[in-house]
Amino acid sequence: MSIDHRSVNPNSLNSFNSNHVLYDQVRPDYDKDFVNSFLHKLNAYNFDTNQYRNDLKIVEIASGTGKFTTNLINCGWNNKSNLVTVEPSIGMIESFKKRFPNLNPECILNGSSYEIPLEDNSADIIIVAQGYHWFADTNSLKEMYRILKPKGKLGFIWNFDASSNAHVFFQDENLENYSLDYQNDELKKLSQEFIYNSGNFIKSDVKKLEKLINYLCINTSKWDLIANYIYSYDINVPQYRHGKWRKTFKNQDFFSRNTVFEGFTFKNLNIAKDKVYPYWESRSYITSLSDKEKLKVKNEIDNIIDGFDDKDFVDESKKIIRMFLGSHFFVIDVNK
Ligand SMILES: C[S@@+](CC[C@H](N)C(=O)[O-])C[C@H]1O[C@@H](n2cnc3c(N)ncnc32)[C@H](O)[C@@H]1O
Repeated sequence: MSIDHRSVNPNSLNSFNSNHVLYDQVRPDYDKDFVNSFLHKLNAYNFDTNQYRNDLKIVEIASGTGKFTTNLINCGWNNKSNLVTVEPSIGMIESFKKRFPNLNPECILNGSSYEIPLEDNSADIIIVAQGYHWFADTNSLKEMYRILKPKGKLGFIWNFDASSNAHVFFQDENLENYSLDYQNDELKKLSQEFIYNSGNFIKSDVKKLEKLINYLCINTSKWDLIANYIYSYDINVPQYRHGKWRKTFKNQDFFSRNTVFEGFTFKNLNIAKDKVYPYWESRSYITSLSDKEKLKVKNEIDNIIDGFDDKDFVDESKKIIRMFLGSHFFVIDVNK
């Protein structure tokens, strides 16, 4: 099936068509426990019985190379009655098919958020991983609304570089009435791994989370140097970290703003110096640079790392540094 790509952001289409192999190699996977929390909020996972609701039909939009789809397939969404993936980039679909050679081709559709090749009222759940910022607009919401069944749920999940302004991700002046849900009982420990959980959102939780992130930021300062340099290139492309995607829920009736649940988790990952540039090169706005500009970016990253003190490395002899990864999910009910 061929689709009309005119509405799909051309930066996205061009870059993901060309960098899908690198993307698949360097982007982080999704944390399994965090995905379980996400699926739980989507009514697709029961923590008490450890059972997945594989009778529910999940449509994953912007499935890319299948990084998130792996979690679904491992949890039993693996056939045409319960899983459909929709992706506009032929390059991404090529990598996706290599990753899942045994998946029924009927589960893999070439389409976009503007033209989802599915019937009205046919999905129990829509998931978008690392993608909604590319199509955060009313037309996409309307189209997702169309295919969701009554009482259906829409869920977004992102991995993001936790850096000094990370707290803007959950500050929301547009959605006054929403809930935050974290993964575990208490702030687990203020070192190494940051997983926080406190049931329903209350103002003091936000304060605690801010404190946690501020604490984190003391340690992220070295990674921030690199991230902030890279962010000087991302001005004109839609990005999760810009937070504009939230505003699309403000003046619309397709989804119910007072049903939102959000979860966050943070962790440290180690990364070798020679893997740092490829990690950032997979960003669309770096992929689209000329070879000369890419070399400049690579050299600048190397210069920043060469300026680190020994203590800034996890292992100086192997040039291993620490990066900080945040993950965020957002779940909202359809209004029908
Ligand atoms: C950063 S990748 C995420 C891929 C995958 N979900 C993952 O978690 O790694 C963003 C994906 O969004 C897709 N995309 C961009 N615009 C889209 C649209 N309007 N509808 C559906 N997918 C779109 C891109 O082709 C790309 O595969």
